[in-house]
This record gives sequence, C-alpha cells and structure tokens, in this order.
Amino acid sequence: MTDLELRGVRYELTRTLLHDLDLTFRAGRMTALSGPSGSGKTTLLSIAGGLLQPSLGEATYAGEPMWRGTGDPRPEVAFVLQVYGLVPILSARENVSVALRARGTDPDEADERASAALARFHIGDLGDRQVEELSGGQMQRVALARGLCVGAAVLLADEPTSELDEGNRALVLAELRREADRGAVVVVATHDPAVVDACDDHHALDDGRLVDHTEPVHLGVGRHRAAEGAPAAGTSPAGRGASAVSHETPPQSIQPVAPVPATAPVTTTHPAPAPPAPATPADPDDDPHRIYRRPGSA
Ligand SMILES: Nc1ncnc2c1ncn2[C@@H]1O[C@H](COP(=O)(O)OP(=O)(O)OP(=O)(O)O)[C@@H](O)[C@H]1O
Ligand SMILES: [Mg+2]
Repeated sequence: MTDLELRGVRYELTRTLLHDLDLTFRAGRMTALSGPSGSGKTTLLSIAGGLLQPSLGEATYAGEPMWRGTGDPRPEVAFVLQVYGLVPILSARENVSVALRARGTDPDEADERASAALARFHIGDLGDRQVEELSGGQMQRVALARGLCVGAAVLLADEPTSELDEGNRALVLAELRREADRGAVVVVATHDPAVVDACDDHHALDDGRLVDHTEPVHLGVGRHRAAEGAPAAGTSPAGRGASAVSHETPPQSIQPVAPVPATAPVTTTHPAPAPPAPATPADPDDDPHRIYRRPGSA
C-alpha cells in the first residue's frame, strides 16, 4: 500500500492560500481534513489529486508527482467533488458510467457497474433519472457512486455528506470505510464532527495552515471508547508520529485558534474505525466549538 505525500506545498494566487504544508495521507486509512469555510480544504485536495500545480513543493504518490502538467489527475485518483461535477442532462447511471468508460471499461459492463454503484448508495431506482431532476442529496450520492465505482487507489472526497441526512451519512461513511479497507488512500474534507470522528486520522486547516488541536474530544463515540478503556488517540501503534489528540471540525461561525507554524503539523489518530456520532451534541460537555478554543479562552 502506498501513501500520498505532500511536501512543502505552497499555493499562491493574489495571496498565499496554502502555507508550506507537509502531510502524509496514509493508505488503508480514512483521513479527515477539516477547517472553516475558505481555509483551503478544496485547494489542498486539488493539489493532492493533481488538478492544481503547487506554487512550491510537491504532492507525490508512489514516488511520482501528482501534477502531470495538464490538470488531468493520474488514473489512480478519483474525486468526489464538492460541486458534484455531474452532467445535468445525462441520467444518473450515465454520469457514473462515463467514469468507467473513460478508464477503458466496456460500455455494457460500465452501465452494469454504474447501476451497482448507484445501488450501493440506495439510489439504484434513480438510474434513469436525469441528474437535473434529482435532489441535492441524491446528486451527492450519484457523485459518490461515480467516485467510488472505479476502485481508485487514491480517493479524495470533498464534503461528501454535506447534503445528507444522518442515515445516508452513515451509509456513505461505511462505503468510504470499505474503500480504505481495500487499501485506498481516502481523504475526506468535511465540516461535520461526526465525519471527523469516523475517520482514523485528522488534519485541521485554518487560513491555509495546519492548526493545533488543544483539547480532547468529548463527542459520544470518543467518550464511549474512553469508557471502554481504549487507548487515547495518538498513543495507539497506529498513531505513531501523531501529536495532540482532539479531532473536531468547527462550524463556520466559530473563531478558530491562531495558526501554528507549518513545522508543527497535527495528526489525530483514532485507535479504531468508529461509527458516526450524532451531529448535535447532547450536553454542554459535547460542545464541538470548544475544540477550537485554547484552554482558558472564552
Ligand atoms: N481561483 C481562485 N482565485 C482566488 N482565490 C481563490 C480561488 N479559489 C479559491 N480561492 C480562495 O482560496 C481560499 C481557500 O478556498 P477553498 O475553496 O480551498 O476553501 P475550503 O476550505 O474548501 O472552503 P469551503 O469549506 O467553503 O469549501 C478561499 O479564501 C478562497 O476564496
Ligand atoms: Mg471546499
């Protein structure tokens, strides 16, 4: 299994959007990438997947650069785009099938596999429906079916559950887990604490920099694991190299902590895959906002 590496990645337009990031997205694991709106998640995924050329530094997979000079991703890479990237006048099945055909799959087989992929996301009955006639959540699941059907070694999913109810979110997380279990690098940009909690590793961005986590997580799933005597995150064998232990995504309205230097990246590692926790905290102890506050701050 091969990791996806980002070394010294900077991205500049009129200002610096990503500041010299060093990150490893590990094969066989789900990695959450969180951060407020505009913090650089989509930009980072775009560089990681070879859609954008970094101004400095490099993203590599198996020793080869992800940027190939054209903005076309390598065949090992599949995206689930934040804006879906579906063709409105094609059917749901056709939208999925084209991804397989583009990789050389015979059209009949591609259609068959596309139907199966839609069924994975419980929209098998919508295969003939034009995408423009689908709801937002249904479109999101078509985009997921398209991204996951190709068996990519690197799967980059940009806020793949943003339009989904809790049940469908759990379904999507289970499918992403299956991708990681077969050895893929799975990176999920998200604002959703439950998605972060379901991942194995977590990197948080603020204004294009990796930010520190300062407090342990008190979401339901994490608390249950602690109560069961599970090792603290970052102390498990799988957590080698990991530093602080909290993992959370701040809602947009929350003031994030001040950025820390890129030389102090933070990875949070969970001891084991976990089912998603409820999105809404049940009591003040579960307040996800606190994750982005330094101890002692209001
Ligand atoms: N083509 C562009 N030209 C100028 N600025 C851009 C461009 N694309 C993105 N940005 C800026 O880069 C920053 C990071 O954007 P990005 O889309 O990566 O954030 P994000 O974390 O994915 O946000 P969201 O959670 O809203 O999707 C934002 O401030 C955005 O305005
Ligand atoms: Mg984004």
